[in-house]
Amino acid sequence: MQNIFNKIFGTSQAQKFFSPGRVNLIGEHTDHEGGFVFPCAINLGISALAQPRTDDTIRLYSMNFDEGAFTPFEIKIDEIKSKSEIRTWVNYPLGVVNVLKNHGYKFGGADILYNGNLPGGAGLSSSAAIEVLTGKIFSELYKLNIDGVKMARFSQEAENNFVGMNCGIMDQFAVSMGKKNCAVLLNCSTLEYSYAPLELENFKIVITNSNVPHSLAGSEYNLRRQQCEAALADIKTKKEISCLCDLTPNELDEFSFSIADPVNLKRARHAVSENARAIRASEALKAGDLNLFGRLMNASHVSLRDDYQVTVPELDILASLAWKLDGVVGSRMTGGGFGGCTVSIVENNSVENFKNSIGADYERLTGRKADFYVIETSDGAGKCK
Ligand code: GLA
Repeated sequence: MQNIFNKIFGTSQAQKFFSPGRVNLIGEHTDHEGGFVFPCAINLGISALAQPRTDDTIRLYSMNFDEGAFTPFEIKIDEIKSKSEIRTWVNYPLGVVNVLKNHGYKFGGADILYNGNLPGGAGLSSSAAIEVLTGKIFSELYKLNIDGVKMARFSQEAENNFVGMNCGIMDQFAVSMGKKNCAVLLNCSTLEYSYAPLELENFKIVITNSNVPHSLAGSEYNLRRQQCEAALADIKTKKEISCLCDLTPNELDEFSFSIADPVNLKRARHAVSENARAIRASEALKAGDLNLFGRLMNASHVSLRDDYQVTVPELDILASLAWKLDGVVGSRMTGGGFGGCTVSIVENNSVENFKNSIGADYERLTGRKADFYVIETSDGAGKCK
């Protein structure tokens, strides 16, 4: 990577940075409804080499997207106004630089080379990874002293306002604040968080990529959010709450009559039940009850399939194949849905069988090949030591 940096930018003063991706264990589509999420940062991610410049030009190059071109994308900080239609990947870093500038931070230019091993479009947060990574690079190069929680918020702001994807805070938070050997229990309405040790000695976290590219920026994600908002507005006519996840499942049941549209009620039921599951699952983990944790993961998938309706047949097939296998504690789709990955907790000595058996059955049933990543947890984004 250093050779390529020298070839493109002509110097070798670069510092090395890494940002993980994330996998969410449970608490899906609760972040935008003020609920709990339970993700961890993973050891697949994006590396970067970066150096400050003496002018205010930013030069960006991706070994994943710009292959063979060897000409970096170049822009002056003050000229960042709207999205690039040509090299669309640069919109994520540009968005973050723009947000930092709008918040009044003063900094100069930089040369940055990115190289990732996170599969794109798989729902493992490559967008959040490059956003937080870029923010942390500028914070480090120009001593901006931006803490990890603030950086997560700035990155979310970039994605919402510059990229135009109305995501919640989970991905950026997990990528910024993740901790090795831990999952992060985050309350998305207060941003209070705690780390839960993931002591999975005899188990592995296995991510299975359906290789159906997810299209979150598409209208479905925003539509689900609108349906939840409509349900919230209906309930508010009968009960004072500030977000859907203020409700327990029993309370939602009690006020379900106030939600006019049955589809909106299903969306609300998912958010509220998933929030309760996320809390219960984190407690089960603390108490060492991995089997309960696994059953809650399975229940999460069912709710995402039937009430929130963001799975696709391929994800349902992957989850139900996993549920039938010995040595699988739990399995569910992870991330926004409409393609992407499942996450499963699998006994160490069942991992090979998991890959072989699910790989073969999935291909037979769908005609697609699945990819498997047996991941480790990771620290959040930052400068490499
Ligand atoms: C995407 C969004 C997150 C979150 C998940 C679903 O990953 O970026 O904010 O809403 O979907 O849990």
